[in-house]
Amino acid sequence: MKTALVTGASRGLGEALVVCLANRGYRVHGLVRTPQAVEALHGHCAAAIPIIGDVARTEVITAIRDALGRCGDGLNLLINNAGTGASIRAMQDGIEEEIAAHVNTHCLGALRVSRAALPFLRRAEPALIVNVSSRFGSTTHAAAGLFHGRPLSYAYPIAKAAQNMLTLRMAEELRPGHVQVCAVHPGQVLTASGAPDAVTTPAEAATRLVNWLESPPADLHGCYVDLDTGRPGW
Ligand SMILES: NC(=O)c1ccc[n+]([C@@H]2O[C@H](COP(=O)([O-])OP(=O)(O)OC[C@H]3O[C@@H](n4cnc5c(N)ncnc54)[C@H](OP(=O)(O)O)[C@@H]3O)[C@@H](O)[C@H]2O)c1
Repeated sequence: MKTALVTGASRGLGEALVVCLANRGYRVHGLVRTPQAVEALHGHCAAAIPIIGDVARTEVITAIRDALGRCGDGLNLLINNAGTGASIRAMQDGIEEEIAAHVNTHCLGALRVSRAALPFLRRAEPALIVNVSSRFGSTTHAAAGLFHGRPLSYAYPIAKAAQNMLTLRMAEELRPGHVQVCAVHPGQVLTASGAPDAVTTPAEAATRLVNWLESPPADLHGCYVDLDTGRPGW
């Protein structure tokens, strides 16, 4: 049986990914922040194995290592999904704090969780880390003017751009081994953090992502794919 860990499993895309992976036969660990979220997760997927932790805090590393260690399995798939949108759109009070908090969650959070999971990924084959990015983290698209006129925050695109570089750094470090790392833009998903032009339900987006992971391009390592367009998302 393959084993997966999904962060941000309390709602939205993360919850849908847990359900989808469990239905495909994975043993799925879902990282959530509160005991109430554990109950909600079990309401959607009784088989999910909860881990309580906040990816923005160092303690999450011990929580994940303890939980995966108790199960005794390797880990085939880590989906770094936790994170929400931001709100401040101008250089005003509070902006530095919001940027720091979002980089801490989207970029350093993915790093903490990956660090915690790496010994378990190294024991499994295949083994893949997926960083859930966003089209808004693309410096290529931003520089080409694709987001002109959109009411975007500073913090969210900056945090996702930082996460994209993290994906590339991790891919470089892990290149000699068998653990692969990639990033995806999951589409415009109808969640609390979704953009106003979101069109895809979390269940549809999760199914598309898992389908893609199960029949991937030959080498995913160091790739960033926009699942809406099928093109690189950098
Ligand atoms: N929706 C879209 O259209 C879209 C598009 C591109 C990329 N994405 C990305 O997809 C991922 C999931 O987004 P979503 O749309 O499903 O958002 P969502 O419905 O707002 O869910 C966000 C999830 O992340 C969790 N989370 C946030 N901060 C966390 C932390 N510090 N530690 C642990 N968990 C944390 C939340 O937990 P709580 O319930 O405890 O808050 C929740 O489970 C995000 O990375 C987002 O940037 C979404």
